[in-house]
Amino acid sequence: MKDNIVLIGFMGCGKTTVGEKLAADLSFDFIDTDQYIEEKEAMIINDIFATKGEEYFRGLETSSLEELISCTEKTIVSSGGGLPLRKENAELLKKLGFVVYLRVQNETVLQRLKGDTTRPLLACENPAKRVEELLEFRDPIYEVGAHLVVDVDGKTVEAIAEEIVRNYEIMRQSKKEDKGIGNE
Ligand code: S3P
Repeated sequence: MKDNIVLIGFMGCGKTTVGEKLAADLSFDFIDTDQYIEEKEAMIINDIFATKGEEYFRGLETSSLEELISCTEKTIVSSGGGLPLRKENAELLKKLGFVVYLRVQNETVLQRLKGDTTRPLLACENPAKRVEELLEFRDPIYEVGAHLVVDVDGKTVEAIAEEIVRNYEIMRQSKKEDKGIGNE
């Protein structure tokens, strides 16, 4: 595992906000996979979905992960909400770093994304039903794909970041101890 922290979770769970806070607290770089893809393709996500389709976008997520594994260190990576769903991506995420699932309730998602037009998957007649269905399907996948699960509802960004840093330090410490034992 590389020395990065990777945030996964549903749209609106706070990956970007928490990620930027973590990057500031730990003096790490910050990368958002959606932004990374938009820059590489010179196109916004909505247009990628509309002109090239979701499968094409999912392929870009996989190739971006491969690139990030080879070029990042001490970076907070905020990943697109659907990225961990491909089995190969889930494996790549765990290579990329300490994976944290920010678990959110659907009411919070709806509240936060009210009026948002940047998420093609929620541009439908009944976004509430869509969020409920997607979350129900994705929650167990996110959970299995993570080293740590943090429930975010009702918590401040500071409290969430602290919880992540505390667990990240514990993981690093236990890795050091494992290495020590092996070297004796
Ligand atoms: C998606 C989430 C979005 C973006 C795309 C698809 C998803 O990222 O990658 O619209 O499948 O949940 P955010 O989770 O950053 O909104």
